[in-house]
Amino acid sequence: MEGLKFVLVFVLLALASSFASAFDPSPLQDFCVAVDETDGVFVNGKFCKDPKDVTAKDFFSSGLNIPGDTSGRVGSNVTAVNVEKIPGLNTLGISLARIDFAPYGLNPPHTHPRATEIIVVVEGTLYVGFVTSNLANGDNRLITKALKPGDVFVFPIGLIHFQFNMGQTKALAFAGLSSQNPGVITIANAVFGSDPPINPDVLAKAFQLDKKVVEYLQKSF
Ligand SMILES: *[C@@H]1O[C@H](CO)[C@@H](O)[C@H](O)[C@H]1NC(C)=O
Repeated sequence: MEGLKFVLVFVLLALASSFASAFDPSPLQDFCVAVDETDGVFVNGKFCKDPKDVTAKDFFSSGLNIPGDTSGRVGSNVTAVNVEKIPGLNTLGISLARIDFAPYGLNPPHTHPRATEIIVVVEGTLYVGFVTSNLANGDNRLITKALKPGDVFVFPIGLIHFQFNMGQTKALAFAGLSSQNPGVITIANAVFGSDPPINPDVLAKAFQLDKKVVEYLQKSF
């Protein structure tokens, strides 16, 4: 009986520890500079370049001084500097982004499935916020703040968040993200703009909307 308990506890601990390192695992060497060499084989992350062939270029990127084009319909532009831009980020669990805002531009509600985000405002005034997950009590609490240059704010991993430029001038922020590949799910696009579209009956019931409104929204995303 004691033996069985021991085995059960052991198995549970083993499972828990494998979940804990399921993404952006700690590197097992100084670095594992990404190299594209798939041959139809997929690994969790990227293959490593031979350390002997690694140079400063593998850890470098430039151009983050250049604003993104904010003339799109939401008036914001995110320039990501992740493992696709810096192969040396592979396995290191970190990346960077520049976020430009036109006057009244919005980085619409979205989540990063693999990263916490910390932003610093460099220019302009941003109204930012995130919504907590569904809880038994105190569901989906909205946490917001108005940020000015020099202010720093954190968006915890997985939570829906947004940044809105409240001012009539452009705004600029930089963000650090705790993944080499944070991923983005923009809520409106994922829900109303999926390919193929989600059955409108599903969305009408979920959002308590008339089906015509759902179809209208599906056309615009
Ligand atoms: C963001 O800016 C870049 C560089 O100006 C541009 O190529 C890209 O299309 C823009 N993205 C969006 C979504 O507007």
